[in-house]
Amino acid sequence: MADVQSSIKKKLDGKVAIVTGGAGGIGEATARHFVEHGARAVVIADIQPEKGRSVAESIGLHRCSYFQCDVADEEQVKSMVDWTVQTYGGLDVMFSNAGIISDSEQTILDLDLSGYDVVMRVNARGSAVCVKQAARKMIELGTKGAIVCTASVAAAMGGPNLTDYTMSKHAVLGLVRSASLQLGAHGIRVNCVSPSALATPMAGKFGMRTAGDVENFIGPFTNLKGVGLTTAHVAEAVLFLASDESGFVTGHNLVVDGGLISLPFLK
Ligand SMILES: NC(=O)c1ccc[n+]([C@@H]2O[C@H](COP(=O)([O-])OP(=O)(O)OC[C@H]3O[C@@H](n4cnc5c(N)ncnc54)[C@H](O)[C@@H]3O)[C@@H](O)[C@H]2O)c1
Repeated sequence: MADVQSSIKKKLDGKVAIVTGGAGGIGEATARHFVEHGARAVVIADIQPEKGRSVAESIGLHRCSYFQCDVADEEQVKSMVDWTVQTYGGLDVMFSNAGIISDSEQTILDLDLSGYDVVMRVNARGSAVCVKQAARKMIELGTKGAIVCTASVAAAMGGPNLTDYTMSKHAVLGLVRSASLQLGAHGIRVNCVSPSALATPMAGKFGMRTAGDVENFIGPFTNLKGVGLTTAHVAEAVLFLASDESGFVTGHNLVVDGGLISLPFLK
């Protein structure tokens, strides 16, 4: 068995990666998957120190660290990127994944603009800061790195509510498309994943705490039957985009939605 395990191709062998929002949900699953695939080091950048440290410890402190960092604060992100390079000697992968969602059911008619500012600050500005600072460091080091962002199916559809979240995810897609054009000359690839709904702490805000809750919500609108989206599915898609296996893929939005047909919530 050990021989079989060791013969499985490690897709991130020796690479150094940052995972923002890695204290839980998709980020945590992806940080674990990166290490399983041979990443030399994974830095979890988050604003939840207790959870983030505990995830890093459970992965193993020789391969994983927690760094307290608000992704929307450029100085903090720059310090986190500098620290990563000083500590581990490089930066190959930035997974810009941290995000938040409002819990308001507002339409444009009653949009709460202070809530809008909060969502846009993390999802749109935070993603731009992380892509910018990672790309600048990769160029400085001469690294042909991979940048992956977490968008959403909400990046490509309108919706009857959650206007601010939908706008923020459209912004992430615009960022990926623009940055991939601008960074291609440096050999840096920029892509995103767009999950549909899955049970993470974020989805818990809407009562989706288990895979069954998600299935009830989205199952009727998903083409692929008998399977529900998990963090493992998303982590596998991110791994592909982060690894050399997608070496000629850039500017791509990898939708991970089981063939979502339509959703009354987002059409
Ligand atoms: N869960 C879903 O159904 C779903 C669907 C599509 C897309 N997404 C996207 O996936 C990404 C991850 O979300 P998740 O579902 O794993 O939720 P989550 O709440 O489990 O994880 C989000 C993480 O981001 C961190 N974070 C929030 N604000 C931050 C900030 N300012 N700086 C640094 N870290 C911050 C949180 O502390 C948390 O650990 C988000 O971008 C989200 O929009 C989620």
